[in-house]
Amino acid sequence: MSQRLKKMRSVLAKQGLDALLVRTFEGDSNNVYYLSGFSGSAAVLVITKKKAFIVTDGRYYMRAQKEAPEFKLVKVKRGSRLTEHINEALTMAGLGKTSKVGFESDHLSVHFAKTWCKEIKAKLVPTVHLVERFRQCKDSCEIELLTLACKVTSRVFREVAPLIKAGMTEAEVAFAIDMRLRKHGASGNSFSTIVASGPNSAMPHYATGQRKLKAGEPVILDFGGVFPGGYCSDLTRTIFVPGKKPQAELVKIYKIVLSANKAARKALKPGITWKQYDKVARDYIEQHGYAKQFTHGLGHSLGLAAHDPYDYEHDPFQEGAVVTDEPGIYCEGLGGVRIEDDLVVTADGAERLTSAPYLRV
Ligand code: GLY
Ligand code: MN
Ligand code: MN
Repeated sequence: MSQRLKKMRSVLAKQGLDALLVRTFEGDSNNVYYLSGFSGSAAVLVITKKKAFIVTDGRYYMRAQKEAPEFKLVKVKRGSRLTEHINEALTMAGLGKTSKVGFESDHLSVHFAKTWCKEIKAKLVPTVHLVERFRQCKDSCEIELLTLACKVTSRVFREVAPLIKAGMTEAEVAFAIDMRLRKHGASGNSFSTIVASGPNSAMPHYATGQRKLKAGEPVILDFGGVFPGGYCSDLTRTIFVPGKKPQAELVKIYKIVLSANKAARKALKPGITWKQYDKVARDYIEQHGYAKQFTHGLGHSLGLAAHDPYDYEHDPFQEGAVVTDEPGIYCEGLGGVRIEDDLVVTADGAERLTSAPYLRV
């Protein structure tokens, strides 16, 4: 954590800020966790050039002291205002009315921003993605945790795939997946498990339902867990329900999607942009006649969130980025295929963290 705090302070200096406020926001506590180690759901970090405070309430006093030992605890008392205690921390750091204090503008509602500007005794300055920027590239400890998350998730696929039979409902398959994710160490799902069968597989983000699987049809299984350290996995495999030969066009589509997935993985390396990465898979799918049926981006950053922050438009890949590679082809009425792997960008290429097998078609 001290390395992360150090990096954050160098950004404060560059931005001409005396302090930065980092707040948990509507269930998103990732920036607070990333900088401090505190994993609870309500806190504000006050990071100054020399000091660091964690402002939290009675539910979290002990946990904050234990998880964020580099931060001095400022206790929010029952019945008092959070802003009073942010002011208390700023005063302890020797900051006042003329100090420039950054806040994360996309982690504060308009209502909160107005209140903070009125009640916090400093000049508040909106900032954008200062912490998110650091989260784009993972350090070796994060890569180790993501590797483990992907390994376990791949194991869940290997365990569940042979159990899938005609007559099971999508929800039953999802339950079998979720149960094994938890059994093997996930504290929860990184998003709601998608089991999309038959015609439903033509919807990329289908909401798993009660439809019964039929022999020979495609089923998209897209799932992931939140694993130790808070890191997420995100895996998709498409299978064909045993008992009947799948339709020839779906088998053809499967081969195209798998080749597009592999081509993108081979192309991924430091220095290329997300647009270039996406284009590799998109061009391949286009050459095979399904451009219009690949209706989403090739992938996204993965980390403390299943869709981790990344400046997709501006920042080329760097070593340590962890991303998904998930081309898909979706044909209304027929069905769809998506194949998703999680990759880490290395010095001269990319490695696959997910090891779930593909179909041999
Ligand atoms: N399941 C969400 C995604 O693959 O992005
Ligand atoms: Mn996914
Ligand atoms: Mn994904």
